[in-house]
Amino acid sequence: MTLPSYAVEAEILESKHVIPGVYQLTVAAKEIARTAQPGQFVQVLIERSFLLLRRPFGVADTDPNKGTLTMFYRLIGKGTRELSKLKAGETVNCLGPLGHGFDLDARQPLLIGGGMGLAPLILLARRFNGKAVVLMGGKNRPEVFWSELFRPLCTEVLVTTNDGSAGVKGFPTDLLPSLLEQGNHDRLFVCGPQIMMEKVSEIASRFSVPCQVSLERHMACGLGACLSCSIDTKSGKRKKVCKDGPVFWVEEVL
Ligand code: FES
Repeated sequence: MTLPSYAVEAEILESKHVIPGVYQLTVAAKEIARTAQPGQFVQVLIERSFLLLRRPFGVADTDPNKGTLTMFYRLIGKGTRELSKLKAGETVNCLGPLGHGFDLDARQPLLIGGGMGLAPLILLARRFNGKAVVLMGGKNRPEVFWSELFRPLCTEVLVTTNDGSAGVKGFPTDLLPSLLEQGNHDRLFVCGPQIMMEKVSEIASRFSVPCQVSLERHMACGLGACLSCSIDTKSGKRKKVCKDGPVFWVEEVL
């Protein structure tokens, strides 16, 4: 069933500089907050950038009671630079929720994320009501600031950093085989760099654990109309990340 999407002029409640180059944006968007599912995204129009296209941002968290929607983004161009200058009280136009999110049917979920890929896993962890374990990776200690956000939502938070400045030195995929060997997880939910998702996919298939991945692609319309996000799937069919995804079963796409 496809749920409705809304275009709302959303008031910025908080725009926070979390670590160098990364921002957290919370807006008032009650219709989106009420209906968004983990893994879905929002197309944001940054009018003062004079860029006509909307930018996709994963739904990181929502509070349906307060009607708030939280997103994270990294400064990567003119649009995000302009967005970072907006202050509380100003507005951005948000279209969403869009796309297909995660299938939540899991008893012992393991969430695996790297870098900005951790953002959509926050709402997912919240929906699992404390029963999820999260395994995260980042370049260094500041880049795993996410651990504090996940701690109240998860049974366990496992951290790896490339330089060993926090958690275990290495990558999430270094810890994954031993976690799956214990047989404690019946489903993996993954979002992060392509290389990490490919390695997770290999390990998941070795241990026969079902796995869903959230893909990131360039998106122009976000609505299935422009084909800019098309990918090849293993069945030979082309699919649109914005409309058929961004979440897919791993065997379909990797
Ligand atoms: Fe246009 Fe997916 S972004 S079809």
